Amino acid sequence: MSKNIVIVYHSSYGHTQKIAQHIALGVSQIADIECYLMAVEAIDWQLLADADAIIMGCPTYMGSASAAFKSFMDASSKVWLEQGWQGKLAAGFTNSGSLSGDKLAVLQQIHLFAMQHGMLWVGMPLMPTGTQPDDLNRMGSYMGLMAQSDSAPVEVTPPIGDLKSAEWFGAHIAKTSLRCL
Ligand SMILES: Cc1cc2nc3c(=O)[nH]c(=O)nc-3n(C[C@H](O)[C@H](O)[C@H](O)COP(=O)(O)O)c2cc1C
Repeated sequence: MSKNIVIVYHSSYGHTQKIAQHIALGVSQIADIECYLMAVEAIDWQLLADADAIIMGCPTYMGSASAAFKSFMDASSKVWLEQGWQGKLAAGFTNSGSLSGDKLAVLQQIHLFAMQHGMLWVGMPLMPTGTQPDDLNRMGSYMGLMAQSDSAPVEVTPPIGDLKSAEWFGAHIAKTSLRCL
């Protein structure tokens, strides 16, 4: 049976959106999956209710989830009250300017949020191929996907390794949804 995967994201300047788009590309490489990209400015609660997996991501702002993404988290409290997302798969990603930039705090924030909703967390079990911009999982993140963007236009950053890691992550979540749900 086919599965629905929704990628909910916030992005002010397009870099995190590009990561979300490449996650979607990876999801779409797997048969029997419908994938939807959803910006936090246009939340479709019914689509989220129908999803088998929700992948959530935002830029790291001041070591935390961006305010716009946090607004989405807070707005989901009505769903939480009824545990409407219980049993769905969840996964997280973030993008920031520094190599660390305290991104882990954001993945932990999204993880905890998913746990409050009773969701099933899918991590990022991809061994790093190195630490260069064309390497996969170059920041060695296992809780979720980390990407890093320079202060440059979205056409040149984040680098190819992060985009390929995003595709791997999307495919991994899609395959997990077919195997587990
Ligand atoms: C208000 C603000 C706070 C930020 N805080 C951090 C931070 O804590 N760590 C970091 O590495 N980068 C930080 N950055 C840089 C952004 O994470 C980076 O520019 C990111 O690529 C923005 O993604 P976007 O283009 O999707 O909006 C911050 C940027 C802004 C505007």
